[in-house]
Amino acid sequence: MTEICIVFDRLRSEEKILEKQAVELGYESKMVDAKSTHFNTDSAKNDNNFGDVVLERCISYYRGLHFTSCLEFLDIPVINKFDVSNICGNKLLTSLLLRKNNIPTPKTYFSFSADATRENLDKIGYPVVIKPVVGSWGRNIIPLKDKDTSEAVIEQREITDGPLDRIFYIQELVDRPPRDIRVITVGDNAIAAMYRKSSGGFKTNIALGAEPEICDITNEMEDLCAKTSKAVGGGILGIDLMEDKKKGLVVNEINNTVEFKGLIKVAKTNIPKEMIDFAVNSIKK
Ligand SMILES: Nc1ncnc2c1ncn2[C@@H]1O[C@H](COP(=O)(O)OP(=O)(O)O)[C@@H](O)[C@H]1O
Ligand SMILES: [Mg+2]
Repeated sequence: MTEICIVFDRLRSEEKILEKQAVELGYESKMVDAKSTHFNTDSAKNDNNFGDVVLERCISYYRGLHFTSCLEFLDIPVINKFDVSNICGNKLLTSLLLRKNNIPTPKTYFSFSADATRENLDKIGYPVVIKPVVGSWGRNIIPLKDKDTSEAVIEQREITDGPLDRIFYIQELVDRPPRDIRVITVGDNAIAAMYRKSSGGFKTNIALGAEPEICDITNEMEDLCAKTSKAVGGGILGIDLMEDKKKGLVVNEINNTVEFKGLIKVAKTNIPKEMIDFAVNSIKK
């Protein structure tokens, strides 16, 4: 019998729902805490039991990514693939990929030192948004309205000086309604979507209290998401769209380990079932 393995580093309701769904569909399923695993260069496929296919659901991007590379080294099927996770987890790589594939996305500027960023900002002007290239839940997504604010953010980055602090990712501020659209794609198909209505602030992350509201998937959304999914390499994705008042729908980002506890409340499709079916079908091919 097909065994599905769900790998986590912190157990959220999503992972529990996926496991329950796998069992309900008649598969064997197991949960593995990535923090308890180990590999070595002589590891073989059957040293650990990761079932027939792994859904990698780590919250930590770097942990999930490196764990995935170990699984791929062992030829264990894993969703999402390393290359997909790598791009989705990094906003700079994602913006470049989207633009390269002619997928509408906000104009974004990159620089690699505090001084080059100051110079760039003098040219671009305000308002803009600065983002850490790796991160989620809206953390450190900062609208920059003037030079005083940008100077404070740049200075802060010089003080913390983390490995990614000198990678500056600055984006035009999209003129949009106080909401965005989260679409879940499974194997290039948009299976569910919701508006995320801001609870007052600038950001529309559910993690920050935005309200989920059902959103009908239009043909335009379907096409845009299929194109985005194909460009990045497919799998199970959370694609975030913004309704730019001038450009129309733009892709803001692609999430690799998509959360769906908000969407599951309003969606008509059975999201976890689609995900489990996809995992099982992916190893049949
Ligand atoms: N360029 C932008 N223009 C307008 N709003 C934005 C822009 N970029 C991000 N936001 C808002 O901030 C939220 C968080 O930004 P996002 O890039 O999705 O980072 P995270 O990965 O932390 O979710 C978005 O969901 C959106 O509401
Ligand atoms: Mg986001």
